[in-house]
Amino acid sequence: MKKIFFPALVFLSAIIFQFCNSGKKITAASVESAKGLKDFYKDYFLMGVAVSPQSLKTDEAGLITEQFASMTPENAMKMGPIHPGINFYNWAGGDSIAAFAKRNNLKLRGHTLCWHSQTPRWFFTDSSVVPAKQVTKEQLLQRLKEHITAVVTRYKGTIYAWDVVNEVISDKADEYFRPSLFFQICGEEFVEKAFEYAHAADPDALLFYNDYNEINPVKREKIIRMVKALQAKGIPIHGIGLQGHWATNEPSREQLDKTLEDFSKLGIKIQITELDISVYPKEHDARDRKSSDYDTTFTPEKEQKQMEVYKMCFELFRKYKKHISGITFWNISDRRSWLDNFPVRGRKDYPLLFDKNLKPKKAFGEVVSF
Ligand code: GLA
Repeated sequence: MKKIFFPALVFLSAIIFQFCNSGKKITAASVESAKGLKDFYKDYFLMGVAVSPQSLKTDEAGLITEQFASMTPENAMKMGPIHPGINFYNWAGGDSIAAFAKRNNLKLRGHTLCWHSQTPRWFFTDSSVVPAKQVTKEQLLQRLKEHITAVVTRYKGTIYAWDVVNEVISDKADEYFRPSLFFQICGEEFVEKAFEYAHAADPDALLFYNDYNEINPVKREKIIRMVKALQAKGIPIHGIGLQGHWATNEPSREQLDKTLEDFSKLGIKIQITELDISVYPKEHDARDRKSSDYDTTFTPEKEQKQMEVYKMCFELFRKYKKHISGITFWNISDRRSWLDNFPVRGRKDYPLLFDKNLKPKKAFGEVVSF
């Protein structure tokens, strides 16, 4: 009895001493502040974050392990960076992220195996003939198979879910597929092939179709049509990724509610794969800065609006808890976001839950209060 009592007494005194000397009271809030997003949401979703290999060597690494349970490589596993030459893979970035995930017991999502953007030019070019010409459908599918097999096999057992195909549906109301080179050369077939190649390389990995702007009902209907067609053919598709690049003026509660309701009827998992909430009104096309863009201060008004949108999104995510299995933020903190250069080049944005000093913003408080 004495043996147990004494160390317990020492431990308790140490805690009381620490709090008395720091002038802090032991309150529910101080206990709560030790928790990360992953802990608040442990009974809901896997909370994730997009990372670069460089970020894992900075103080952001501590924030990642404290707050998140999952990571996605922001760029390192895209076709261009990981497969820059026909017979040349560059594994360094992907391997260092995979090693960090293993070391710190984080889950890893793979992103992305087939996308029209950040794909190297060689992929579509047959240079074995002079002059070089565009590859045939057979050649392109063979290259896609080799690429997917090599990348998925390398991270088999480490990556639990892949964004197999990214953004193939057109934004134009009267067009079904985006007229990418993949589509021009292969027609729609490359989508099902990509899923089949990924499944053959790792039958245990969960395979996702990932896209943006699903809150638009016309685009959403086309995505649902494509997913249903894949399901009807027995193609191994296990989830749908909603990127979630949103802003302070969209989506509305009604839009997001309807979007999640429609996708949940597909009977496959939903993940929010690239969440950020820009503090500027949504614009879809890239443009240069204008004089009206020069004031980029993170004002209390911007902070308030962003907080409200984050609160609304997470209320709805929790409503669809049965269908949503993961939520990944696109970038770690307001120190750096792809939105600093898109849609307006060189305009600072503040889209995340952590500020430039890696401290939780007010929006964080709203997200974890439920
Ligand atoms: C898309 C892609 C991501 C990333 C973002 C912008 O959403 O899926 O990989 O490139 O655009 O950073």
